Amino acid sequence: MGRKGREIVKVDVGELIELLKKAYADEWIAYYAYKWIAKMVHGPGSPHIAELAEKIAEEEEEHANELAERILELGGDLPYGIEKLYEIANCKTVKYPEDLNDLKGILEALAEAEACAIEVYNKILNWLSPCYEKDVKTFHLIEHILSEEIAHEESFENLIE
Ligand SMILES: [Fe+2]
Ligand SMILES: [Fe+2]
Repeated sequence: MGRKGREIVKVDVGELIELLKKAYADEWIAYYAYKWIAKMVHGPGSPHIAELAEKIAEEEEEHANELAERILELGGDLPYGIEKLYEIANCKTVKYPEDLNDLKGILEALAEAEACAIEVYNKILNWLSPCYEKDVKTFHLIEHILSEEIAHEESFENLIE
């Protein structure tokens, strides 16, 4: 990031980078959980869930990439290694039911995981508030990711009903 780009960031950059790194870890855990369930879900109705899981996995990967770009722009580096990701993540796992025929249980676990993501991004936005001018670019990025997490949760809750 250039001189002016850095100059307009009015928050504790070190603290912001730590928050973004934790969210970055969450995104990779979510990505893996979606890719895993897309292959493992079975029984009637499962192809629809598998397809949805693949699609959302792509969006979580995008979130990880967007967060990575911002972390690097701010002068941070990316955590390396699965253990490290697990250590710093806010949402460490998706609690799938033992029976992977239990589609309702799977949907509930995914909705719960998305609720965790929503909380994380909402907290970051609150941290950047009340004056989002403290870091306009990060604010808009997090707002964009948060709106997708809200849509993810809703898509599972609609299927549960
Ligand atoms: Fe995400
Ligand atoms: Fe999500």
